Amino acid sequence: MGVTKTFYIETFGCQMNAHDSEKVVGTLVSEGYRQVSTVEEAGLVLYNTCSIRDKAEQKVFNRLADYKKLEKQGKKFGVLGCVAQQEGDKIFERAPYVSMVCGSASYRNLPAMLVQLEAGNRRVTGLDDRQTDACFETECTARTNPHRGYITIIEGCDKFCAYCVVPYTRGKERSRTAESVLREARQMADSGFTDVQLLGQNVNSYRDPSGKMSFAELLTAVGEVNGIRRVRFTTSHPRDFTPDIVAAIDAVPALCDHVHLPVQSGSTRVLGAMAREYSREEYLERVAWVRSAKRPISMTTDTIVGFPGETEEDFEQTLSLLDEVGFDAVFAFKFSPRPNTPAISLQDSIPEEEKSRRLQMLMDRQREIQRSRYARHVGQIMEAAVEGFNSQRGQVIGRSTQNKTVNFTTPHPIRPAPGSYLPVRITQSFPNSLVGEAVS
Ligand code: 5AD
Ligand code: SF4
Repeated sequence: MGVTKTFYIETFGCQMNAHDSEKVVGTLVSEGYRQVSTVEEAGLVLYNTCSIRDKAEQKVFNRLADYKKLEKQGKKFGVLGCVAQQEGDKIFERAPYVSMVCGSASYRNLPAMLVQLEAGNRRVTGLDDRQTDACFETECTARTNPHRGYITIIEGCDKFCAYCVVPYTRGKERSRTAESVLREARQMADSGFTDVQLLGQNVNSYRDPSGKMSFAELLTAVGEVNGIRRVRFTTSHPRDFTPDIVAAIDAVPALCDHVHLPVQSGSTRVLGAMAREYSREEYLERVAWVRSAKRPISMTTDTIVGFPGETEEDFEQTLSLLDEVGFDAVFAFKFSPRPNTPAISLQDSIPEEEKSRRLQMLMDRQREIQRSRYARHVGQIMEAAVEGFNSQRGQVIGRSTQNKTVNFTTPHPIRPAPGSYLPVRITQSFPNSLVGEAVS
């Protein structure tokens, strides 16, 4: 029996994956497939997977097990993304009802792979050797939001941090030309997008293959595209973070007042073991650059607790770094040993309960830091980008340029449209959100 030309896709993991799924949807639709919103309705079920931590990987296999019985109804299952690239053919053994496995560097082969699937091939694979030079660019990205959209500027990663699976799942670093990035930004602006996010595993390691623009110059050029009101970029690596990025934010109004700069640990010793290529002091130097900007720029970070050999003193240094910097958000994770990475050969020495204790301590400390940081906004007027409406609370849901959630009421009964921008006076603050009222 051939594949019914309907598909369902579920995405796990980071924004790179979310955007890859938009490109996969666009590609499938251009091949004559129709996207449906439930597994039950679909002929082809796709999971775009993440393997950053073991938990993320387990989710995928649990999901596959949940729907195993549906294979009997003639549905086909495909695994895409990072778990696909990492596990390869082994997925067919672990989940025999899967008939397609495709890593992120092979999506451009999807049309050919779909033809094989339709012809009844039970084991279709697209797994690159990670030496690819190609980016996955397509004319047919199916963007899920008509106002905010992603633009990939660099794929892959050459940093090889000791804990991280990304260089193995997403391959070597490859940048798009500034010209093609700008073309996409202009096209988006022409079709009504006002908010773009430049994406890359190490977005600031960007190197224009045509040699025309630095990362800061590209940021500036995207920020100057007519119609674009907000530009964000994630994720930055501290080693490649340079003062000209801060100067660009200062100079170009559309560049958002927000830098996400993962620190991972506050201990220089642990940073060395992680192969991060910067010390605590060098990280703090970059924070000082950001803090010296004319505009108040919010800073957010990622941290890992319980890296092999992390002592209580090392962990204390991470806590003291949080105090010293005053981040506006911290994404904290327990170390999870990943296949292929250098850290897998280190003993995962910190017991699970101890990792949990450190994680909880860190989050409690950060919550108090955020409570006071968010409180500073009370009384200010800030621009909120409208994202939706919370009917239960009767509040508009918005986002500030610093990437803070701003829930607000309006004096008019007419709800402001998603994608519009309104000035809001902040009246109340919580550790993770602000509350206010729109001002005319
Ligand atoms: N274990 C725990 N956290 C990890 N991260 C990346 N790899 C691991 C791992 N093996 C975290 C880092 C990174 C974020 C996206 O995920 O903090 O910045
Ligand atoms: Fe997960 Fe990393 Fe793959 Fe993103 S790139 S989906 S975070 S493993």
